[in-house]
Amino acid sequence: MTKKVQTPKFGPLAGMKVVFSAIEIAGPFSAQMFAEWGAEVIWIEHSAYADTIRVQPNYPELSRRNLHALSLNVFSDEGREVFLKLIEDADVFIEASKGPAFAKRGITDELLWARNKKLVIGHLSGFGQYGTAEYTNLAAYNTIAQAFSGYLMQNGDVDQPMPAFPYTADYMAGFAVTSSVLAAVYGAEKTGVGESIDVAMYEVMLRVGQYYMMDYLNGGEMCPRMTKGKDPLYCGCGLYKCSDGYIVFEIVGGSQVSSMFEVLGISDLLGTEEIPEGTQLIARSMSCGEILEDKLDAFFAEKTIEESLALLASYKVAGAKVLDVEDLQSNPQYVARDSFTEWETMSGDKCKGPNVMPKFKNNPCKVWRATPSYGMDTADILSDLGYSDEEISGFAERKIVNVGKKA
Ligand code: COA
Repeated sequence: MTKKVQTPKFGPLAGMKVVFSAIEIAGPFSAQMFAEWGAEVIWIEHSAYADTIRVQPNYPELSRRNLHALSLNVFSDEGREVFLKLIEDADVFIEASKGPAFAKRGITDELLWARNKKLVIGHLSGFGQYGTAEYTNLAAYNTIAQAFSGYLMQNGDVDQPMPAFPYTADYMAGFAVTSSVLAAVYGAEKTGVGESIDVAMYEVMLRVGQYYMMDYLNGGEMCPRMTKGKDPLYCGCGLYKCSDGYIVFEIVGGSQVSSMFEVLGISDLLGTEEIPEGTQLIARSMSCGEILEDKLDAFFAEKTIEESLALLASYKVAGAKVLDVEDLQSNPQYVARDSFTEWETMSGDKCKGPNVMPKFKNNPCKVWRATPSYGMDTADILSDLGYSDEEISGFAERKIVNVGKKA
């Protein structure tokens, strides 16, 4: 019998089946990457209420495209059986909750593997699946993971810490789930045995926030935060003001350093014992640090962005204008690569947002479906699992599922 849930075949993950239960950004971001790369992805929402993302404007249209929407009370007796049937032929199950929420309610990894030995399970939580009673079951969002990992205290300006936005820890955690799940799928393909992955958001941020902490941990000092967008350790790296707006650049590399010293008329400062020819980075602690920064500020303050970028490019110094969203839309690189795209929402409106990322040459990806409305695929998904119309209506009456409305 033909399946009612249909996902077109495209992308490197065509044929893979992913089920996920998570709200907001982190877990869904991971699962949606699978959907944008061609997997069939089923998004479980609670049968009593929808994902809180749905009350927010615009973003849900981007963050839930290409998905199938199932509303199900997973932790009711009947709902659990539906859920177990659903994962029987899935490759991946991803969930994001306050600690080991599924195991606490009896849905352990072992129970899932009893139904599907090869299943790869990605658990995402703020603090991990195990640890102390004090932390393990706590709720977490972006700022919590940033604060608890030491990431937050490194960001902001020298006078005040500030979380990195928008929602950096959620996206980093999502990437960690996707990459670790794919690693485990590779293993499961070879061995026939699944995996359970414990992604703690704070550990993801601990890892990506280690650049400066390594100095502290290994006997150095903790680096201060940025001052006005400039790198705290190295000169000529970060944000600079031109006569008509901001640019960033990074003077990194032997030829880049010597060219810029020449442009600024301070070549005599190179070739000393402290700063020999070929020096690749100028540390703030070097004797020429302050002179270099003052010269750079004064030099670029008198140039336009266009002049500055042309000059930097001619010396192979990496640089860019700080673009605003209007700039992005008309930028020729964006246009040439279709970095933005448009699609039709379930209610027939046009929606604009980033295109699928990255670009796969041999297995191109696409946006094939708008964000499904709450519960709209529930009846089809249950029917594919073998439930009759009467059984599905019974589940709906007992609030095990919510069949939503077809858009
Ligand atoms: N069926 C039955 N019960 C469900 C369900 C479903 N389909 N989906 C969720 N639930 C339950 C949860 O287990 C939870 O029960 P509990 O409060 O007894 O523990 C309850 O419904 C609410 O769960 P949840 O959706 O997790 O909402 P919350 O407001 O309690 O917590 C988070 C939200 C995001 C803080 C929490 O899920 C969390 O810390 N997740 C991990 C980190 C994360 O993803 N953060 C968000 C990043 S954007």
